[in-house]
Amino acid sequence: MTLSSRTPFPRSGREWPDLLSDMRARTERDADPLEGQTAIFFFLSDPETYQVGKRAYMEFFSENALGAARAYPGIGQMEREVCDYGLELFHAPPEARGIFTTGGTESIFVAVRAAREAFRAKNGVGRETQLNIVMPVTGHPAFDKSAIVMDLEVRRAPLTSDLRVDVSVMRELIDDNTMMLVGSAPCFPHGVIDPLTELSDLAVERDVWLHTDACVGGWVAPFFERIGRGTPTFDFRLPGVRSISADLHKFGFTPKPASTLYFRSGEDVERTTFRLGYWPSGVYTTATFSGTRPGAAVAAAWAVLNHLGIEGYERAARNQAEMVDRYVSGLSAIEGLIFHARPDVTILNFGAEDLDIYSVADGMRARGWVPGLTTTPRGMHTMLSMQHEPARERYLSDLRDCFGTVREAQSKSASTATY
Ligand SMILES: Cc1ncc(COP(=O)(O)O)c(C=O)c1O
Repeated sequence: MTLSSRTPFPRSGREWPDLLSDMRARTERDADPLEGQTAIFFFLSDPETYQVGKRAYMEFFSENALGAARAYPGIGQMEREVCDYGLELFHAPPEARGIFTTGGTESIFVAVRAAREAFRAKNGVGRETQLNIVMPVTGHPAFDKSAIVMDLEVRRAPLTSDLRVDVSVMRELIDDNTMMLVGSAPCFPHGVIDPLTELSDLAVERDVWLHTDACVGGWVAPFFERIGRGTPTFDFRLPGVRSISADLHKFGFTPKPASTLYFRSGEDVERTTFRLGYWPSGVYTTATFSGTRPGAAVAAAWAVLNHLGIEGYERAARNQAEMVDRYVSGLSAIEGLIFHARPDVTILNFGAEDLDIYSVADGMRARGWVPGLTTTPRGMHTMLSMQHEPARERYLSDLRDCFGTVREAQSKSASTATY
């Protein structure tokens, strides 16, 4: 980059109307979250709940959750209540505790740190011992990020044919320095829930910490279960599960940044809580990695959870489940389309039998959609929430067209190929 290519810091200020029109012009070609054209990134239950979250966020726009204990006890109380709701949802024992974080990555980071401290304390080892995490190949990169920071090794186990982790390989990968096992509920790429009951048995047998990464499913799978959709158990009912990450800003439908992290034992929260006593400004303490955090996200999460209540989340689950079924039946009718996995909750992953699915995705992109992709197997990936319902017919029709176009192009190039 040359100095002349940098954007200069404006010398004088501009008024709001001018700024707004400039920002609108800049984002004119960005995806509109409410239009349902992006496969990931945004989650909607219903327009009213969306407005409740937005209003609560704006109402508490300036509060800093770092100051919850000293300046904003009301925010602190909302934070505790949100975590209490999660503890109830995940069948946590009385001594369990939860914390509110800024997202899945932070929840995972804090869980990994707790597991490392617990392992070190139990085994009397320190920095000299290289510890490892054993997890599915589909587990989220946030574990690798955490591992880089904490100098850990990540060992990834492959999947069985149903795209869930192969527990027998997980077992083989464990050694004396394994500080954490991970299972996802569900995993991001394929939307399926790992065999957490078996992972829990393994964790108990080998006395290793098991983390359930329910960042995607935490606030939706329990409601799928409650409405009789039969999702596999992944929470504290499994004796080996020692921590659970569950993002509010995904299927909790609350504004970003908001996630929660739960520990079976309050002692584990103590392990990860950061305290610095010698700082000239006095004792500095946080249970999260971040310092300043938006109080707005806490207030908005509280408002959304209280607006929906259990009945509202069950209603949302029913709406989503019915929509997933409609998508599955619409997609199944497209010639050559194959499902890589049946969705356990709301993530679809499909490919093509006899043509290149990435070319189909290119076609969809050209029509204004923002598809998600997976590499193994080659597939298209979508996290469905209610903004995708009004877009469904158009999506299916565009996808059918794109399949047709790619098939036609493929058969033309096959017929003109020379040998
Ligand atoms: C299974 C899973 N875990 C963790 C994360 C990380 O969440 P975030 O992007 O909020 O940091 C994601 C994000 O999609 C995810 O799908």
